[in-house]
Amino acid sequence: MTFPSILTDNKLKNVKLTLDDDGIATITINRSSKLNALNYETIEELRRAMQEVYDNTEIRSVIITGEGTKAFVAGADIAELSKLDEVNAKRYSQNGQDVFAMIENCRKPVIAAVNGYALGGGCELALACHMRVAVENAKFGLPEVKLGTLPGFGGTQRLTQSIGKAKTLELIMTGDMLSASEAKELGLVNHVVPTHEEMMKKTKEILRKIATSSPIAVSLVINTVNTVYSSQERGYQKEAQFFGATAKTNDFHEGMQAFLEKRKPNFLGK
Ligand code: COA
Repeated sequence: MTFPSILTDNKLKNVKLTLDDDGIATITINRSSKLNALNYETIEELRRAMQEVYDNTEIRSVIITGEGTKAFVAGADIAELSKLDEVNAKRYSQNGQDVFAMIENCRKPVIAAVNGYALGGGCELALACHMRVAVENAKFGLPEVKLGTLPGFGGTQRLTQSIGKAKTLELIMTGDMLSASEAKELGLVNHVVPTHEEMMKKTKEILRKIATSSPIAVSLVINTVNTVYSSQERGYQKEAQFFGATAKTNDFHEGMQAFLEKRKPNFLGK
């Protein structure tokens, strides 16, 4: 199914899609007053932008980044999450997983240009991309336990694929943040550069190099490498199920509420 082009009608509110002369599309998450946090509307707009990438033959490759210099994406929108019950939280997780799978399975190369905080859903968004180029002051983390839940957009699976089990468990269980250089040392990030300009330059340089090869061969590389992990579907299902299950606990609502009220949570384990 094809949609009318959003490059020309440009009706999105929280996501910008632009295309340069080299066929490189840039998708910018554009909600900087909330540090580009992904609310439901933004996730659906990201789905629309990715559909355009799938459909538009002028687009040869993609950069996903965040507006401004502070945040790539500071997570799923906590104000929205705080209102979810078990059934809707599971759906919310499955919906995010679905959009991020569109990115991972895209036949065209997708690079995350990580321009600041990549936390929770933001870290998961970066992980769904085929590579990551980060500015030196970017920070990565999956702090969901501090909110009384767990990563719900594929982070439990893709971080393990990326940096291995022990480091994944440490990061997710502590909720700690990594600097860009620590993330590079662990293999989460491909390149770290000093400035925002260098980040876009490096990202485009990689995409232009890839564009000199056969797009068919490149898309088959993406598909084949993804096949290494394709038997792990159960992990994503479990992640969504447990994300939903946490939404019926007091801790989930306490964790989210505490963030919104700018105070420390008081977790009771129930
Ligand atoms: N969801 C909703 N709103 C968010 C958000 C999120 N994930 N992250 C940041 N915001 C909002 C803040 O509530 C604040 O809104 P306000 O100005 O209306 O109060 C605004 O963005 C700026 O954030 P603030 O916390 O004031 O900035 P900071 O520089 O003090 O801290 C962070 C930056 C990234 C450390 C902090 O915002 C944070 O911890 N965010 C949540 C990260 C997280 O837990 N993500 C996982 C979500 S599942």
